[in-house]
Amino acid sequence: MNYSSLLNQLEKQLKHLQRRGKHYLTTPALQEAETTALRAGLKGIVPSPERMALTAQPKMNPSDLIRQNMGQTRQEVRPSGKPKKEHPSLTPAPMKSVQSSDGSIEKLRETYKDCMNCPLGETRTKLVFGSGSSGTPVMFIGEGPGADEDAQGEPFVGRAGKLLTKMIHSIGIDRSDVYITNVVKCRPPGNRNPEPLEVAACMGILESQLRLISPRLIVTLGNVPTRALIPDVQGITKARGNLLQYREWKLMPTFHPSYLLRNRTAMPLAWKDFRSIASLAFDPS
Ligand code: URA
Repeated sequence: MNYSSLLNQLEKQLKHLQRRGKHYLTTPALQEAETTALRAGLKGIVPSPERMALTAQPKMNPSDLIRQNMGQTRQEVRPSGKPKKEHPSLTPAPMKSVQSSDGSIEKLRETYKDCMNCPLGETRTKLVFGSGSSGTPVMFIGEGPGADEDAQGEPFVGRAGKLLTKMIHSIGIDRSDVYITNVVKCRPPGNRNPEPLEVAACMGILESQLRLISPRLIVTLGNVPTRALIPDVQGITKARGNLLQYREWKLMPTFHPSYLLRNRTAMPLAWKDFRSIASLAFDPS
């Protein structure tokens, strides 16, 4: 994505926030200041028009970047003394991950059930939060819900999901013993890749899920989730099977099951990754 389409997206996102969060962006002066500051902040993270905005700065994930930029912006423009209204669906998401009040993943799901932090909220049927065991040692992260997931509100229930379930079984684990979620929780229309700002808007939820579950191993499925967490990582064909680090968690990228459905020759490598996943997560000694 080039710089000008990133700005277009940013303006779309701001319009969305203005529509949804009237109490937050109320005066034209505030909007102008917010836009200017965001632009200035984003310039700092886009070294060239050729590079994806959110992969531009190594060793920082998108939520950190946007949190940093927008956090500064808010402090500058928020009228002092005005209490911030607490409404999860109107609070721009990228900045914060929340600890649900009783620390449970179900509370967290409840917190975000009506999330409207980005335009995907307007087109989804069901928000797909995630499913599985919250005490699991392994968490799989996909890209975003497809049509089946959007209809059912569960991750990986379509063709790709059936393959993922089979692969999990193949290493002697039940799907209900792992946790499965996506980088974005609402379906991108037409199954397109999520836009960087959509990823950033959803990152707070993923970070809260990670903190609550704190798995021994994160498995990212394909380029989108891998780059959402580690922006400067190599492409999936090189990165897959390598043991990486994301903050305090070990992370292994592997192929997305949809890719495997289209490229059967990659299957043996994926099986190899899944054998490593089993030993890293379930037999870590
Ligand atoms: N693909 C994904 O990345 N996630 C899903 O939940 C389904 C398909």
